[in-house]
Amino acid sequence: MWCLERLIPLLLIISDANSQWNIWVPRDISAMANSCVVIPCSFMYPPGIRPARGVHGIWYFGQPYPQLFPPVVFKSLTDVVHESFKGRTKLLGDLNQRNCTLLIGNLGTEHSGRYYFRADIGGANKYSYPDFAELKVLVQPNIDIPEEIVSDNSLELTCYVPDNCPDMTPEIQWIYTDYLPDPEFSSDFIEESNTAVLSNTLRFTPRPMHNSQLLGCRVIYPNTTLVYERIISLDVKYPPRSVWVNVSSEVMEGSSVTLHCEVDSNPSPRIAWLFGEQELLWDTATNISLSMDDITPEQEGVYTCVGDNSFGIMNTSLYLTVKYPPREPIVNDSITVVEGTSLALHCNTMGNPTPTLTWLKDGELAGSITAGQLSVLDILEVTPQQTGQYRCLVENEHGRASASLNITVEYAPVFLEESKCTVVREGVQCVCVAVGNPEPTIEFYLPDLNITINETDNRFNFYTHSDGHTSTAMIKLREKGERTDNSGPAVNVLCNIYNTYGKENVLLELQQEKKYMMAVIVGTIGGVAVIAFIIAAVRYVGQNNKKENGNPRQEVVLENPALYYSAVKKDKQNLRKKVREDGDFQPVGSMAGKEKQELNYAALEFIGARPSGGASGRGDDGSNYTEIKAK
Ligand SMILES: *[C@@H]1O[C@H](CO)[C@@H](O)[C@H](O)[C@H]1NC(C)=O
Ligand SMILES: *[C@@H]1O[C@H](CO)[C@@H](O)[C@H](O)[C@H]1NC(C)=O
Ligand SMILES: *[C@@H]1O[C@H](CO)[C@@H](O)[C@H](O)[C@H]1NC(C)=O
Ligand SMILES: *[C@@H]1O[C@H](CO)[C@@H](O)[C@H](O)[C@H]1NC(C)=O
Ligand SMILES: *[C@@H]1O[C@H](CO)[C@@H](O)[C@H](O)[C@H]1NC(C)=O
Ligand SMILES: *[C@@H]1O[C@H](CO)[C@@H](O)[C@H](O)[C@H]1NC(C)=O
Ligand SMILES: *[C@@H]1O[C@H](CO)[C@@H](O)[C@H](O)[C@H]1NC(C)=O
Ligand SMILES: *[C@@H]1O[C@H](CO)[C@@H](O)[C@H](O)[C@H]1NC(C)=O
Ligand SMILES: *[C@@H]1O[C@H](CO)[C@@H](O)[C@H](O)[C@H]1NC(C)=O
Repeated sequence: MWCLERLIPLLLIISDANSQWNIWVPRDISAMANSCVVIPCSFMYPPGIRPARGVHGIWYFGQPYPQLFPPVVFKSLTDVVHESFKGRTKLLGDLNQRNCTLLIGNLGTEHSGRYYFRADIGGANKYSYPDFAELKVLVQPNIDIPEEIVSDNSLELTCYVPDNCPDMTPEIQWIYTDYLPDPEFSSDFIEESNTAVLSNTLRFTPRPMHNSQLLGCRVIYPNTTLVYERIISLDVKYPPRSVWVNVSSEVMEGSSVTLHCEVDSNPSPRIAWLFGEQELLWDTATNISLSMDDITPEQEGVYTCVGDNSFGIMNTSLYLTVKYPPREPIVNDSITVVEGTSLALHCNTMGNPTPTLTWLKDGELAGSITAGQLSVLDILEVTPQQTGQYRCLVENEHGRASASLNITVEYAPVFLEESKCTVVREGVQCVCVAVGNPEPTIEFYLPDLNITINETDNRFNFYTHSDGHTSTAMIKLREKGERTDNSGPAVNVLCNIYNTYGKENVLLELQQEKKYMMAVIVGTIGGVAVIAFIIAAVRYVGQNNKKENGNPRQEVVLENPALYYSAVKKDKQNLRKKVREDGDFQPVGSMAGKEKQELNYAALEFIGARPSGGASGRGDDGSNYTEIKAK
């Protein structure tokens, strides 16, 4: 059947080219090794030539010219052919019919080449046609593969096998197709230029997983043992279909970390590590490793690996957590405030995991424990007792740190219970003790004499010292002579205390039996005994290493403790009450107690002081002071 179809163009060519030396053979023809091939052939010679002894012909291999001695494939006059064609060739056409069709059987690859026909019409009418048929002897079928196979796009693969051997008809099978999803097969028969090709087309939609899979076309000739196969490996292009990165991880500050990324794509992607928006590293590869040394908390965040090939782009992220101990907190500067002020103390830190922040006042918990970066300690209406060192302690599982500030509260002076007048051997000693910040200034006022005694007025015997915020002052009133008048009023001593924030006064009253008539001795320092007393006092102070304020201080052993008497005329209840109003003044009690132990009364007697006029007069008026001597 195929022969007839093949003839139609051939006849046209012949009619066009009549009256001349002409040949028609297929320019290219192929056949499978070990099968056969029929080379269809028709030729023309000028019509004027009359063949004498019939038409003869020769098929040459490689060259058309006899003088070059090409291998003879077939010769109609004799059976002499080249070794390699012996027993393999047969002229199927009738040369008298100008049909030079040739059969070559049992083909080997050595038979690939050009085949030329030479006609011998008789006499000198011999002609080598320059046109030739080029035979290809194949050992494998051909597979037509698209230049690019893209996943998820329908794919057609066609396997071709020549079908130019009339006795043997090939069959095409696709092999290794088990894994293919819904493969479709369709066979076709193509005739072109008088040669035939059998084909089979495989249709399917490749997936990324089919990349690198083998696929084959097998050709068999039924009832023979001939088998030909061509195996191909599919190169399926696909966009990144997975981007693998480490799971989110945690590292310690200062350590090293390596983040891996692997991308599955074909072709290999441009693979890159990004930190936020910033590209840190890239390569054209299937995997990439980002190594970081000496990690800092700033490197905590989202790391994204992006895989990008021309078919698509994909990314996966991880979160890198950087752990670190809390930083030394930042707290407010030390401050001095006035009682009643409200404060907010800030403590700022950073740490991972979230640190806990604790405010301590002098080592004791103050406020609540918070977790985060900021802790604010609110102190509403600060009280004197809130003076102290405030430390903010921050800690997490990796460490701790702290910072502190000092708060100093300034407040109006307050009397302490120690304020009292005591009977001593030669008179009465009055002590006034007060706390306040700044330290209170103390002065005594003797209303009966209209005399104010303070530290600057050195006409009087006044002793004071200050220890922190506690001020202590003392005067000693000396008894002068024997009193017989027992109707006189008790000695009155007023103690005034003041600082920037307020002033107070209290009457230290000593009610006494008449024989303890008091005298105030005022005047300048005089007398050897007094000087010795001062020296003793200074030494004592030196040993005690106590702060002195103003005049030297001396410990005076109360000469008759049983008789001491303290009278705070404003009454103790009142004092306590005031103290309590200042906001749970309990520590004052302890302060007071402490002070009691440490109180060192400085006392100097001023003997032989010159009387002052007014005072003297009063003394004569029957006051308790029999004499006031002044310098
Ligand atoms: C030439 O001979 C072959 C073999 O006999 C035949 O199949 C073919 O049809 C002939 N060609 C022409 C043009 O007659
Ligand atoms: C192969 O041989 C069997 C019998 O052995 C025959 O029936 C069949 O037609 C043959 N097939 C071909 C293609 O020659
Ligand atoms: C990431 O994964 C790779 C390979 O599994 C491993 O070697 C590396 O230590 C991992 N990195 C982190 C930070 O977990
Ligand atoms: C990473 O890529 C390199 C080439 O770039 C390759 O040799 C290596 O096998 C890959 N590693 C993995 C785990 O895929
Ligand atoms: C990662 O992919 C998502 C969409 O899948 C996109 O919105 C995002 O911008 C990508 N991130 C990066 C860093 O490319
Ligand atoms: C402590 O510092 C914070 C912030 O710097 C500030 O808002 C606050 O007022 C400060 N507190 C005091 C008592 O100074
Ligand atoms: C707070 O006062 C103490 C002494 O009372 C001192 O040692 C410390 O340095 C002070 N702290 C600050 C922050 O001023
Ligand atoms: C007290 O003495 C001062 C002068 O030292 C005088 O001005 C004042 O009036 C006196 N007061 C009384 C109540 O005597
Ligand atoms: C002591 O008292 C006198 C007057 O009585 C006064 O002028 C002086 O300022 C006072 N000194 C102090 C330190 O209070």
